[in-house]
Amino acid sequence: MIDIETLTPRQVVAELDKYVVGQAEAKRAVAIALRNRWRRQQVPEELRDEIAPKNIIMIGPTGVGKTEIARRLAKLTQSPFLKIEASKFTEVGYVGRDVESMIRDLTELAVNMVKAEEREKVKVKAAEIAEEKLLDILLPPVRGTAPAPLSGTLPPEQPPQPSAERPETREKLRKLLREGKLNDRYVDLEVSQRAVPVVEVFSAAGLEDMDINLREMFGNLFPAKTKKRKVKVPEALEILAQEESQRLIDMDAVTEQARKRVEQTGIIFLDEIDKIASHEHGHGPDVSRLGVQRDLLPVVEGTTVNTKYGMVKTDHILFIASGAFHMAKPSDLIPEMQGRFPIRVELKALGKHDFIRILTEPQNALVTQYQALMATEKVELIFASEAIEEIASIATVVNERMENIGARRLHTVMEKLLDEISFNAPEMTNMSFTITAGYVRDRLSEIVKDEDLSRFIL
Ligand SMILES: Nc1ncnc2c1ncn2[C@@H]1O[C@H](COP(=O)(O)OP(=O)(O)OP(=O)(O)O)[C@@H](O)[C@H]1O
Ligand SMILES: [Mg+2]
Repeated sequence: MIDIETLTPRQVVAELDKYVVGQAEAKRAVAIALRNRWRRQQVPEELRDEIAPKNIIMIGPTGVGKTEIARRLAKLTQSPFLKIEASKFTEVGYVGRDVESMIRDLTELAVNMVKAEEREKVKVKAAEIAEEKLLDILLPPVRGTAPAPLSGTLPPEQPPQPSAERPETREKLRKLLREGKLNDRYVDLEVSQRAVPVVEVFSAAGLEDMDINLREMFGNLFPAKTKKRKVKVPEALEILAQEESQRLIDMDAVTEQARKRVEQTGIIFLDEIDKIASHEHGHGPDVSRLGVQRDLLPVVEGTTVNTKYGMVKTDHILFIASGAFHMAKPSDLIPEMQGRFPIRVELKALGKHDFIRILTEPQNALVTQYQALMATEKVELIFASEAIEEIASIATVVNERMENIGARRLHTVMEKLLDEISFNAPEMTNMSFTITAGYVRDRLSEIVKDEDLSRFIL
C-alpha cells in the first residue's frame, strides 16, 4: 500500500491505470488536484487559506470511464469522498434535496470513517474487556460473604469478590471460551435498546434535519431501555465488544477530526452536472435547474454549512463535476458556475483497441470476472486472443450502428456471448472451454447483422 500522504501524481495515475484504460488527460487532472491538496497543507499557514482547490469538470460521452475514475480515486485516497448526481437536487424552497445536504452527507460519511478507524484502534482492548464481562456472566462473582447479623440493619453491600477457588475456575472457563468450546451455550445478556417512536413528518424543506432533531430529542427523552436477551456466546462477545468500544471512543474527538477532514481533504464528485445546465433559458424545468446552479455556487465557492456535527466550511472541498454534455455545453452553465470549475478535461470515446484492453487489462477486467464466475462451476474458461478481438470489434460495430454506450456495450455483448455456457456450466463439470473467434461469430454475427434484433439484444 502506498502512503496516501505522499502519493505523487505519477503514482495516482499508475494506480488508476490498473482499472481504467486510456483517458490519460482526466487521470492527470485528478492526480494533480489531489497532489495540490497535499502541497497546500505544506504551505505556510497565512497563505494556506488563500489557496483554493482547482475544481474539475470531466466531459465525455457515456460509458467511457468518468464515474469509474472517480470511484477508483475514492478507493485510493482516504479522504471522505461523496459521489452524487447533480440532477438529484432541487432548489431551496422546493420539495427535495437541497444542495447543502451533500455537505451533511459527506460529514456523516467522514464521521463514520473516523469512528471505524477509532474502533479499530480500541478493538483489542474492547475485546479484552468483553471477555472479562462475559466471564462475569458465565461465572458471576460472589457478593460479600460477611455473616448476616442476627437482627437489625443489613450489612453494607460489599463489592464482588472472586473467592479463593474462583480464579482457577475462571481461567479454565477462559480457556474453553477461547477454544470455542462454549460457542453453543446461551447466556442472558442485557441489551440496551432505544425505543424511538416512529413519527412521520411531512415538511417541505429540511426533511433530513427534522429527522435528525427528532431522533436526538426523543433519544434523550426515552432513555435507553435494557432488555434481557438470550444469545449464544459468540454473539454475546460481539455485542459486549461493540458496547465497550462505543464507550472507549471519544465521540467529541471523532466529530472534531471528521469535520477537519471534510474541510481539508473532502472530495465531492458531482455526476451528471450537464443535467442542470440548460441551453434555452427561461421556462419550465430550466428555471429550477438554474436555481440549483445558483444554490451550488456558494457551496463550491466556500460557505459554512450547518450539520448535526457542527459547522463545516466548504472552502477547500474539491469538487469534480462530470457530464456527457450531449445536449447542453459547459458554456450553458451559468457563468459564475463555469468560473468555479477552471479545469476542463475531455474523455474520449472508446474504440476497438480500447475495448481489447478493457476486456483484458484491468485488475477487474470483464474476462477475468467471467473466468472467476465459471471457475466456481469448475469450468475453465479460456479466451483466444482472436476471440477477444472479435468481441471488441462487434462491440464497436454495434456502438457505431446504434447508440454509442461506450464500454457498457462490452457487458451486453459478453452476456449474450456467454449465455449458453452460463446456462450449461453446472453440467460441464471439470472441463475447460476455449472461446474462439469462430465461437464468437457463431453466437453473435446473426444478431449483429440483423439491426432490429441487435437493437433489443445487444
Ligand atoms: N476507460 C475505461 N477503462 C476501463 N473500464 C471502463 C472504461 N470506461 C468505462 N469502463 C467500464 O464501463 C462501465 C461504465 O463506465 P462509467 O461508469 O465510468 O461511465 P461514465 O463515463 O460515468 O458514463 P455516464 O456518463 O453514463 O455516467 C464501467 O463498468 C467501467 O468499468
Ligand atoms: Mg457516470
